[in-house]
Amino acid sequence: MGRRTAVLISGSGSNLQALIDTTAAPGSSAEIVLVVSNRADAFGLERARRAGIPASAIPHRGFSDRAGFDAAIDAALREAGVELVCLAGFMRLLTPGFVESWRDRMLNIHPSLLPAFRGADAHVQALAAGVRISGCTVHLVRPEMDTGPILLQGLVPVLPGDTVETLSRRTLEVEHVCYPRALELMVSGRVRVEAGRALVEGI
Ligand code: GAR
Repeated sequence: MGRRTAVLISGSGSNLQALIDTTAAPGSSAEIVLVVSNRADAFGLERARRAGIPASAIPHRGFSDRAGFDAAIDAALREAGVELVCLAGFMRLLTPGFVESWRDRMLNIHPSLLPAFRGADAHVQALAAGVRISGCTVHLVRPEMDTGPILLQGLVPVLPGDTVETLSRRTLEVEHVCYPRALELMVSGRVRVEAGRALVEGI
């Protein structure tokens, strides 16, 4: 039995799939016990159900404000005895109160080398800037969007003629390696946060 982990999604859930596959393997120190989506039509919910993992939609439109939505998510997490939360393509901003209550127990993956290109259109920004190297970042979540102590980064070369589609496809392949590794680092107790930075034993 590994650390009880929830994954929050909004869409396809390919990172969720990578986390499902790696945590199901023998020797993993994490166990995915809940998947929550803010969109009922997210394919990731189907991925969870196929893997036998409890999955539920909590549509944000059902709430009059962000605090109400976050309270519903929080209640679902606590009811399932969740210890650690992974945001995986979860496209809603979370309130500072929610983020603080999961401080150093909530991870996010972002498709750029943070602190560059924060926000929803990271690949558009990277291509517009003409960077030669892009990538992804797994970090601990802080209230300000796409900030927080960095656990792992993966590199993706930007190729001539790259579009948002080709760059995001190649970046996802790297994300699928980085996110499970970062989760494993967290649950094996090898991460310490000091002065706003994550110190990771062994890397
Ligand atoms: C991933 O590329 C993830 O890094 C990105 O959304 C995609 C979700 O794909 N997240 C963000 O842009 C957050 N700012 P997936 O649903 O197939 O995992």
